[in-house]
Order: sequence, then structure tokens, then C-alpha cells
Amino acid sequence: MKRTLDWNKYLEKAAEIVAEGIVMLKNDNNALPLDMSKTVSVFGRIQLHYYKSGTGSGGMVNVSKVTGIVDGLAEAGVKINEKLRDIYRKWDEENPFDQGGGWGGEPWNQKEMPLDDSIAEEAASVSETAIVIIGRTAGEEQDARLEEGSYLLTSVELDMLRKVRKYFKKVVVLLNVGGLIDLEQILECSPDSLLYVWQGGMTGGTGTAAVLTGKASPSGKLPDTIAYKISDYPSDEYFGDKNKAVYAEDIFVGYRWFETFAKDRVLYPFGFGLSYTTFDIELTYAKKYDSESMINVRVTNTGSYRGKEVVQVYCEAPQGKLGRAKRVLCGFVKTKELAPGESQSLKIKIDHRDIASYDDSEGKHCWVLEKGRYALHIGSNARNCIDQFHFEIEEDTVIEQCSQVLAPVEAFERFKAAENAEGITKILESVPLSNVDEEKRRLEHLPKEIAYTGDKGIKLVDVKNGNATMEQFVAQLSDHDLSCIIRGEGMGSPRVTAGTASAFGGVSDELVKFGIPAGCCSDGPSGMRLDCGTKAFSLPNGTLIASTFNRELVEELFEFMGTEMIANKVDCLLGPGMNIHRHPLNGRNFEYFSEDPFLTGQMASAELNGLHKVGVTGTIKHFCANNQETNRHFLDSVVSERALREIYLRGFEIAVKVGGAKTIMTTYGAINGLWTAGSFDLNTVVLRDEWGFKGFTMTDWWANVNYRGEEPKRSYYVPMARAQNDVYMVCSDSSCVDADIEAALKNGSLTRAELQRNAMNVLGFIMGTHAMKRLIGEEDIVEIINRPDSEELSDEPVVFYEIEDSLKLDLSNIRSEKGKNHSFALIIKKLGWYNVTITASSVQSPLAQIPVTIFAMGTASGTLTWNGTEGKLIPLACEIPMFSRFTAIRLYFAQNGLDLHSIEFKLVREADNMDLAFAEEN
Ligand code: BGC
Repeated sequence: MKRTLDWNKYLEKAAEIVAEGIVMLKNDNNALPLDMSKTVSVFGRIQLHYYKSGTGSGGMVNVSKVTGIVDGLAEAGVKINEKLRDIYRKWDEENPFDQGGGWGGEPWNQKEMPLDDSIAEEAASVSETAIVIIGRTAGEEQDARLEEGSYLLTSVELDMLRKVRKYFKKVVVLLNVGGLIDLEQILECSPDSLLYVWQGGMTGGTGTAAVLTGKASPSGKLPDTIAYKISDYPSDEYFGDKNKAVYAEDIFVGYRWFETFAKDRVLYPFGFGLSYTTFDIELTYAKKYDSESMINVRVTNTGSYRGKEVVQVYCEAPQGKLGRAKRVLCGFVKTKELAPGESQSLKIKIDHRDIASYDDSEGKHCWVLEKGRYALHIGSNARNCIDQFHFEIEEDTVIEQCSQVLAPVEAFERFKAAENAEGITKILESVPLSNVDEEKRRLEHLPKEIAYTGDKGIKLVDVKNGNATMEQFVAQLSDHDLSCIIRGEGMGSPRVTAGTASAFGGVSDELVKFGIPAGCCSDGPSGMRLDCGTKAFSLPNGTLIASTFNRELVEELFEFMGTEMIANKVDCLLGPGMNIHRHPLNGRNFEYFSEDPFLTGQMASAELNGLHKVGVTGTIKHFCANNQETNRHFLDSVVSERALREIYLRGFEIAVKVGGAKTIMTTYGAINGLWTAGSFDLNTVVLRDEWGFKGFTMTDWWANVNYRGEEPKRSYYVPMARAQNDVYMVCSDSSCVDADIEAALKNGSLTRAELQRNAMNVLGFIMGTHAMKRLIGEEDIVEIINRPDSEELSDEPVVFYEIEDSLKLDLSNIRSEKGKNHSFALIIKKLGWYNVTITASSVQSPLAQIPVTIFAMGTASGTLTWNGTEGKLIPLACEIPMFSRFTAIRLYFAQNGLDLHSIEFKLVREADNMDLAFAEEN
């Protein structure tokens, strides 16, 4: 099949998402939209360094052009105060942006230019409106902090805001951030307009400019509640502990807490977002059926600007025995763009499963609608909505019987809502504990072994074409073959697209002989991370996407994304990330959608639908309760079954049932003492038996696994396989013999049948991939049109070189102009620290500075800077750790004028096990 990917349309779609995801919190004094006839002054150094995304696997997309906010404004025809911009440019040159170094090494905020009164005053004399941009990034392995430069503004940023306010008539503050930051201080400076513009990917500035200039009216809605203080969030007391995260707030996450118990602590409610126009939402029809309710609304644009509105439906259920949050989002729909005076009728279906609660008390374990009055509040946010339709449920109705899973093994008290004469109050109750024998459950579920037949000449394509059964195919695989297929290879395996996260499926020569292709996984939620330097599209981040509340648009964007994946031979994008924003400081909130599981599940499903349209998929992650980065490999989330079911599993459940998810990644940490990668309840009972998941599951990269009561270990394949977490990600050579698996098969602690089951999960998935189509010669051809030359895919395969102790490569034919990259990959026999020497010359003056950055696995690992050398060859060296068997190397040339000669790698010190363990943890 021939497909076309029009890069311009891709950019347009992404910019449209950005415009729809921006949330306008305040707009007084007609500050926005901008008056196009007047000059605008832009403050803040981030105007020169737009944050397209966070850092780490969720943001490492190599992109040649990022359209920042000022670029976007200029392209839209806004007159910019260039004199002021030059002041920032000059200061920025003298105070270079700190890129940091190493994995996660980029600082999460940058030093700001101290602003002199005179500069602000002069700028105000030529322009009426000031735009102030505040930026933050975030990422893996650490959380944001309640400190200046993190959640709080720095004193220099505050001073800038105050001075700008003093001199300007109109002040617009833009927050180019991945998650929430403190607004109290900002509001004290009285800006006229305040907008979360989030992190919008490579075309973020275009979408932002569309909103600022009024080309699009803002229509983004908050996916999180904004409280006055961090300490107002119910999880605050329990967040950040290194060993244990006790989820005492239980189901009362975000607005569920605030709308029930702490309305006065809310600065901006969940679902809030202003427009340049106003809307009227009228209920036109409502009816309750057995398992769902139907609602029809008519939305009218009552203002004088074009715009879109999101209609939101929140359920207020009876408190019953269980106690409920006063508002639970159970439906939403976004209008088309309505002209002033125009109306649109829309339907919203409410699935009663979304208004039920989970009874986790002893012997119950079911989804139930407790008897009483169910009110559906319809409106434009969690606060501004009114009880417009209600119905009675006459008696407690169990709508789904489950079995107890994942319940706590240690006692703690959780929050509960209780109704009395004074209203609803918070009480504490003891959490129900687990009485499940997990091992017994596994043994009761053991699959039946398929007798080994040896090679019968059946290839996987025969199963695909219906000429053999999967059982007949799997019967041919030896124990060793089966032990290989449960181990993914990477990072950077040469079996798949260079510089990607892993290969799975055909990961040994024997498996390949059976006609099993190697499938390819690549990070991540904001676009493909290709560590060898290949350029890819950088998408808006998860929180921005959620703020659009627009499923159709998100689906359209991800269809483009999927087509780009086919062109790069990537089968699974490692995203969407769908953990819940339990606390505003979580380092990876930018990748995730929301504090609400319904919105999370709907958005993930929209992304999956888009990818599935073109035959690729996204790996939903991290399954589940991965809501803190601090000590994430060893953190135990202590949480009730009810909170898991209603909040932390719920989004995943929707993504499986509505979005048809085909691949899932478990987490690094534990739930109630058991690491998720080895949890049978999670991977088998909930995911497959209850939800009907048919795809394959994988661990997070180098994840820990354990048996209950045991310390967790890396590469612990046996408990993982038994739990039906199908593939361990990753190991450096999937084809090698694993003594543990062999021993377990021998002593019966792992059965061949379990491995066959896991293999069938992987094979069932891989049969439907483009990798399979390529193997059988039915490859889809993607023609990419309108992509700038600088971003074009290279047809040159990345060359792998083997290195034992040392390796020298000739670079004399390599082009090193400014902005170019040169990539290759190493197969490293001895992992350890290497001295890397690049020899080069330059005819430029001795004062010239010509830096070359060495990226190893996508991470900046060292920068070597030459001065002019009068033509003489000068070697410069740095030491870099190379701890991965496959390491993609990329040299990035930041300036013109270097004549390359060679690069040499020399082993300095081999890594020992301690080093490797340390490296994996960091
Ligand atoms: C992250 C995953 C990611 C994986 C592969 C891990 O550090 O937690 O989200 O997909 O690395 O890069």
C-alpha cells in the first residue's frame, strides 16, 4: 500500500492541537487578543528557548526546527519590539542556556535575565502590551520541588514581572511549562492575562500565536485543579517519601477532593478555561436507560467572537455506604467552532460504569450503583455546572462482580466521605486488606502445555494466512526459543531501526528462521526518540493534549504520527503515558494527561484510535500507580483496591476497552509490596481475565521484579513470565542462554506452558504489524511530502562497528557544517568508561570557538570545543561511560569551520557489576 504523509498538514494539525490545548485563566482589560497594529514587547529568556517538551524518554525527539512563541508571533504578523529582543539575545549569548549533561542532566529552569527598570520603561514607551514568558521543564528520576526555580518563581522572575507590571498598560503572562506551577505569586503581580501554554512540541509557537492573535479563540480546559497552595492537594502529606507512597487520600484525588471537602481552596476548578466569547449550554433531552444515560445539549455562542466550548457532565452520586466524591466527570463533548449567535446540538452518552463505585470491602469486590439519587451536573467546568437531570436507583445494583486484586497487605487509614446532619465530612477508615493467595491463584490459572514438535516447517505467515494454528506454530519452539522471545533486545538493537528502545519477537537467529520479524519499540509520548540522530516530529505534550478535550482532533494528529512511524519502521510508540496527576510535583506529569481517569482514558483511546487506523500502536504506560519519580525503582505504592480500581487502573481500563490497546508497559515500582512487573493479579487477572486484553505486555526498561516478600532484582525473568508480563525490556543479547529460566523450567517453578502462553501473546501481536508485512514483502511505502530538506529521513543505514578495547574511525569525509550531525553505532564487547578523542583542525582564527557535542544513546555526554588551529590537527578528548552493548553515537556540530580527521575510542576501565547496577539506576 502507498501512503502519503504531508508534513505541512502534520504541522498544521499539531498547531491546531496546541491552540485548542492552551488554557486561558484570566483575560482582563482586553489584553487579548493582541492588537495587531501595535508593537509587543516580549520579556523572559525563554522567548529564545521555547520548551517544546519535558526531558527524558518523553521528550528526546531530535528535531531540526522548533517554532517558538516569538517566531510564531512574527510569522502571524505581530510587530515585535526588536530592540528589546536584541537585549535578550545579547544577554543570552553572554549567559548561555545551560544544557546540562548526562541522562536527565538538563536543569529544569534557567537563570533569568535581571531586568533593569530602564529597559522595561523604554520598552513600554514603544508598546502597550508586554508578554512575559515563564518556562520550566521536567523529566525522569526526580520530582519538581516546592522551591524557587521549580514550583515557585525565582526572585529574578518575580522582579521581572513586577517591573513589567509597573510600566506596561497590558501584561500577558504565558506559562511554557509541562505541569502546574505556583500562581499565587504571579497573580499578586496582577497580570491582565494569564495562560498555560504548556509544552507544544515543534510547532508550539504557531499554535500559541494563533490564540494570542485571535485567529483561534482559546478553548482549552484545565485537566487539573489549581489550588491556592501545594499543601492544599490531598496527597501532599504523602508525596515524596523515598520508600513508601501511602495513598491515604484514596479516591479523593484532585477535584474529587476539592469539590467534596475543600471548595474554598480552589483558585481555578478542574475543567476551567476562558474563551474570547461566551456560551450558553441548554439541556434539550435526557433519558436514563438500563446501563447508560443519553443527554442532548444545545450550545449557543452568545458572545461576539468565534469559538469552541466543552460541555462537561459530572455525576453526583448518593453517598451510600461507600461515600462518594461530589463530582465525577462522566462525559464531555466539544463543539465545532461556532460563529457568534450560532448553535450546535450535541449528544453525550453516559456509561453507568463511569458513575458506579467500587466496593472493596471484605467479600464484596464489585462495581456497584448504590441506591439513591444520581444527579448529572451539566456545564462548563467542575464548579460551573448545574444539576439538570437526575434519576433514582431503587436498590443497590451490582453491575460487575470482580475478585479482590492488588489489595494492601499492611494496615493504614484512608479518607472516606460520610454524610451526617451537617453535610458531608471527611472521616478515616481502615483500609480492607488482601486475603488473596497469589501463588494459588496462579496455579489455578496455569495454561496447558502444547507438546513440543520441533521444526515442522510452519512459518508465522502460515498462521497469519490461516494455514496453521498458533498452537501448531508455537509447538515448534524449543525451551530456549521461548526463553529468548520473552526478552526484548536493546537499547539500540541492530535488529530494528537504529537508536530505538528495543526489538521484540524475532530476537534470535532461530526465531527469525521461523519467520518471526523483529518488531520495534521507540519512545515516546511526544514523538519518536531516535538516538542515532534521525529527525522526527515533536508533538505537543500529554497535559496539553488532555486540555483540548477534543478526541477527534487528537485522533487525527495520531494518524499522522502513525504514518511517520511506518516510514521509520517503528511498530510501537512507547506512549501515551497515562499515569494520574496525583500530585503537581511529579516529574513526569507533562507526559501524562490529567488528575482524572476518565479524561485520561478517553485521550489515550483517541491517540490509540489514530495510530490503529494506520496499523501501528502505542504502548500505554506505566501500568499502574507510577505517580512519583523520586526513587521510582524502589518505591512501594500503598493503595487501596478501591482507589486502584476507580482512579489508577481506570484510565488503562478505558484505553483497553474503548481504545483497543494492544501493548502495555508495567512500572518500575511496586503496588502493595509486589513489583508490578511480576504481579499476576495485575497482568493476568485484571488486564486479561477482567478486561479482555489480547495484546502483549512488557516491563519498563531494566525494571525490577520480585516475589512477594523478596527484595526486587533486575533481569529477574521467571517471576515476570509467570505473571504473564510477556517481555522483559531490555537485555543486551536476547539470544543468550539464561540459566535462571533453564533452572526454573527444570524444577517446575516455571512451566513451558507459561512461556508458550507469553510467546503466543507476542506473536499474536507481531503478526499484525508492519514488521510482519515487510518480512513477507507487503511493505507499505510512505511518501513524505513538503518536509524541509533538513528534516528528511536518511536512506543510509546506520553503520555498526564492533569495539573490544579500542577503535579508530576515519572522519575525513564527514561534513561538519553548523547544525549537521554524524551518526554511527557501536557494538561494545567490554562495557565501561572510554576515552574518546576527536582529532580535527580549523583554519579559523584562534579566537573562534567550534564545539562538537558527543551524544551517546541520545544523551549529551561531552562537548569538545576547538579554537582555530591554523590548519594544524589538534586532538581533544573526554571520557564517557558506555554501559549499553549497543550504543548509538551522534556527533553534533554547533558551528562551521571544523575539518574532521578521526575519532578514537579507548577503553579506560571496564565496568563491574556495581557500576552497571548504578548506571541502570541512574
Ligand atoms: C521510562 C519509560 C521509557 C523507557 C525506555 C524508562 O526510563 O520510564 O517510560 O519508555 O525508559 O526509554
